[in-house]
Amino acid sequence: MVKSINFLLLLSLLAFVPSCHCKKKIGGYLYPQFYDGSCPRAQEIVQSIVAKAVAKEPRMAASLLRLHFHDCFVKGCDASVLLDSSGTIISEKRSNPNRDSARGFEVIDEIKSALEKECPHTVSCADILALAARDSTVLTGGPSWGVPLGRRDSLGASISGSNNNIPAPNNTFQTILTKFKLKGLDIVDLVALSGSHTIGNSRCTSFRQRLYNQTGNGKADFTLDQVYAAELRTRCPRSGGDQNLFVLDFVTPIKFDNFYYKNLLANKGLLSSDEILLTKNQVSADLVKQYAENNDLFFEQFAKSMVKMGNITPLTGSRGEIRKNCRGINK
Ligand code: HEM
Repeated sequence: MVKSINFLLLLSLLAFVPSCHCKKKIGGYLYPQFYDGSCPRAQEIVQSIVAKAVAKEPRMAASLLRLHFHDCFVKGCDASVLLDSSGTIISEKRSNPNRDSARGFEVIDEIKSALEKECPHTVSCADILALAARDSTVLTGGPSWGVPLGRRDSLGASISGSNNNIPAPNNTFQTILTKFKLKGLDIVDLVALSGSHTIGNSRCTSFRQRLYNQTGNGKADFTLDQVYAAELRTRCPRSGGDQNLFVLDFVTPIKFDNFYYKNLLANKGLLSSDEILLTKNQVSADLVKQYAENNDLFFEQFAKSMVKMGNITPLTGSRGEIRKNCRGINK
């Protein structure tokens, strides 16, 4: 009796819940359990292939982490970065930030084909990128987080979006912050996510200007440690050697930790876009100092900011598609 009264009460209460205009929004939510029913081993499969690739080449962790970023900043996290050129599609792989630089596509291919075998036409390439970014972080010693899932894959790419939305290493602090804000990310996300540069490499061409002519006066960037700069110049000459590789974090180059921030405090950040977090804005400088002092705080914020980045305008519901091959739209 009491039970049925409770039930009636609940029903009448529900009747007064204002009609929800959030139908679209509900359809739009990503959640970590998305594949629990349809492909329960999806996360395990992604993890094992990423682990194998990183064991073979530690840098692959960095490359996969960066791919998710370069995906999300262009049309949202929709795997547009993975499309090859064909028909009307001009691949984002040809853009300035990606050309001769973005890598890891073969690992994504391997994951996709394993998942197509396990549960055909189910797991999106965009979700693979988000999972691979998390797994890469964990495998190199960084924090873990539950990855919200349910993204679908784009039907197109945007080379102009790739050129314009992804910050360049010689952009000003304001330009970089604006590019983050346009994607719904703030200064805290900017400083925390830049901590990704605790792993991985950069080519000489991405920071040469700092070594020779930072402000057009023919001098090296004075915010760069002069001994470190001299060492960098030996393999990054005034001309030539564009593709020569340098570690982004010279202390612990393949470990995900807060040495990136400690290096910035020692004027030994590699990219101009790294060092200006300390030198051009008080709020970001304070965050750099906090993360340099407190690794746990960095890890906690990094995980939060990665989830936030992974939520940039995903395709959900019936929008987009689940690609069979991450390099091309379905026939
Ligand atoms: C804040 C603005 C950022 C700028 C200007 C920037 C710029 C760059 C540049 C120039 C490189 C070297 C590319 C090359 O020379 O081939 C690089 C590498 C890298 N970036 Fe960023 N980045 C930024 C933010 C981020 C974010 C938000 C992430 C991840 C969430 C990220 C992850 C990485 C990783 C892991 C690498 C190393 C990749 C590898 O070794 O293959 N970056 N970035």
